[in-house]
Amino acid sequence: MMRFMAKVAIQRLIGAIPGGPALYERARRRRIFDDIDSEVAVKRAVAERYASVLRTVGGVEVGALSNHLEMGSGWLPVLPLTFRRYGVTRQVLTDVAPLMRGEDAVAVAAALDRAAPVGAQPLAPPPGEAADRWLERLGIRYHAPQPLPMPFPDASFDLVTITQVLQYPAPDVIRAIHQEAARLLRPGGWYILSVELADLYHHFDPALPRFNFLRYSEATWRRWFNNPYTPLNRLRTTQHRELLAAAPFDILLWETAGGGPDDIAELRRAPPHAAFFHIPEAELARTNLIVLARRR
Ligand SMILES: C[S@@+](CC[C@H](N)C(=O)[O-])C[C@H]1O[C@@H](n2cnc3c(N)ncnc32)[C@H](O)[C@@H]1O
Repeated sequence: MMRFMAKVAIQRLIGAIPGGPALYERARRRRIFDDIDSEVAVKRAVAERYASVLRTVGGVEVGALSNHLEMGSGWLPVLPLTFRRYGVTRQVLTDVAPLMRGEDAVAVAAALDRAAPVGAQPLAPPPGEAADRWLERLGIRYHAPQPLPMPFPDASFDLVTITQVLQYPAPDVIRAIHQEAARLLRPGGWYILSVELADLYHHFDPALPRFNFLRYSEATWRRWFNNPYTPLNRLRTTQHRELLAAAPFDILLWETAGGGPDDIAELRRAPPHAAFFHIPEAELARTNLIVLARRR
C-alpha cells in the first residue's frame, strides 16, 4: 500500500516539476529496456495468441490478412514484427503518444531473432541499413501522436488490434475508438482487443490487493489517485461489452480470465465501493479480457 501511495504521489507531482515528464519517461524506458528479452517474450505470446484465435475461431490465417492497424502500439513493435514473420505485408502503428523509436524496433527485431528457431529468416536489419528505411521495407509505418479520426480511408484494413490500451481512456473515448475501428475495417474485417482488468498498481506493489482500485468512489479515485501516467478507467467486462455492442461488430470470442474463488477472495481484501455493488463479484474480480469481433 505504501509503495502504491508513493507511486501515485510521484506521478501526480511529476507534471509540476520542471523536466519531470522527461525524467519519468526516461525511467520508464530504462525499465522496459533493462530486460528486453522477457518483455518481448511476453508480447510475442500475445501475438501468437491472436494468430491462434484468428485461426481457430475466425477460420483465417493472420498471414492472409494484408493490412493491419495496431492502435496504441506503445514502445515495442513486437506484435507487428511477429505478424510480419507470419506474412502480413502492410501494417500501420498508431499511438496518442510518440513512444517508439527506430532503434527500439531494431532492438525488438534482434530479440525476436535471438528467440527464433535456427535457420529462420532474420527480421533485424543488416548493419548499415537505417531503421526507418528498414521499417518501410517491412511495410511498417508509425503515426504518433495520432488523434482520432485517423487519416486513413474507410474500409482500408483487414485487421485492427488494440492491446492493453482500453483500460486507460474514458468511456466516450473508447466508444470513439470502436467506431473508428469499424470505419477503417472492411466488411468482414477482424477486430481484436485485449485488456487487463486488475489494478495495474499491483505490478509495482505486490502487497496491494489486486482489485484495490475498486474500493474508491469515482470522485475519490479521480481526485486523489488518477493521473495522466496511469489513467485507469476501472471499467468491468459488462461495461466493455456495452461499449462494443454500440459499434457494428459481431462478437465471435469473448474470453475472460479471473472471477474464480481466489480472485473473489482477493477482491474482498479491498471491499469494493458501493458504486460497484450492482455488478456481481465474479465480474468485478475478472482479471483479463480478450475479444475477437468481426465488422458487419
Ligand atoms: C500499456 S501500453 C500498451 C502498448 C502495446 N499495445 C503493447 O501491448 O505493448 C498502452 C498504450 O496505449 C496508448 N494509449 C493510451 N490511450 C490511448 C488512446 N486513447 N488511443 C490510442 N492509444 C492510447 C499509450 O500511449 C500506450 O502506448
